Amino acid sequence: MAVGVFDSGLGGLTVFDAVTKRLPDVDFVYYGDNSRAPYGVRDADDVYELTKMGVERLWDAGCDLVILACNTASAAALRRMQDGWIPADKRVLGVFVPLIESLTEREWGDNSPPREVSVKNVALFATPATVSSRAFQRELAFRAIGVDVEAQPCGGLVDAIEDGDEILAEALVRSHVDALKRRMPHPEAAILGCTHYPLMQDTFQAALGEGVKVYSQANLVAESLADYLERRPNLVGPGKTTQYLTTGDPSHVSDRATQFLRRKITFEAA
Ligand code: DGL
Repeated sequence: MAVGVFDSGLGGLTVFDAVTKRLPDVDFVYYGDNSRAPYGVRDADDVYELTKMGVERLWDAGCDLVILACNTASAAALRRMQDGWIPADKRVLGVFVPLIESLTEREWGDNSPPREVSVKNVALFATPATVSSRAFQRELAFRAIGVDVEAQPCGGLVDAIEDGDEILAEALVRSHVDALKRRMPHPEAAILGCTHYPLMQDTFQAALGEGVKVYSQANLVAESLADYLERRPNLVGPGKTTQYLTTGDPSHVSDRATQFLRRKITFEAA
């Protein structure tokens, strides 16, 4: 029984960690496209082609269901993939919808018309590619009315996190939060719309102030996956082991991943 988890690099490990804890009986295969990260500065066609390659590799590893644990791929590639590319016996899901359902107080899969919700001012922090796709605003508009979204492209942050440069990452978070607050002084909620950013959640919360509710995706995605598999148990594919695949240098990626998750993680070449 295996489910695939795709990311451009290491950030998807935040989602991987949450899904493995929530579903301890399911095997997961992680694919990090580390040699080609970051995706957040690539154009949509490029993200689409690279995401398809990763998803095909996960299908080959016996995962009929693949989670795109990458907002950039979910924003720039998922719709296009779902538009006829995915075979009938396979599924690919993104990470936006569970978050937006939580923000708009909806149950899983509630597709009723958009309605007013309590939160009115939302700050979105994401990669430049995710921000320019406007996918978050599009998905939100299907579910809620009267919500003002101010999006901040957080250039440089993924690189600093991947490089393990904490001092630079903290400085970047503070300057991106300042830039956003100049345009939206009092957000009620902040979305960490990139899977790398939960690793900086405390810095975001401190810069935003205690009154701002910070949404990060990992646990929301894990809950929504558990719910999905309960409804569609046949989608747990035939794969039988947990594996970590990377297009980068396996020993370097293993070291970084072990630091991220604070437990031994061993990657192999994809
Ligand atoms: N972790 C990815 C995301 O959630 C993107 C990082 C990257 O730019 O590759 O958007």
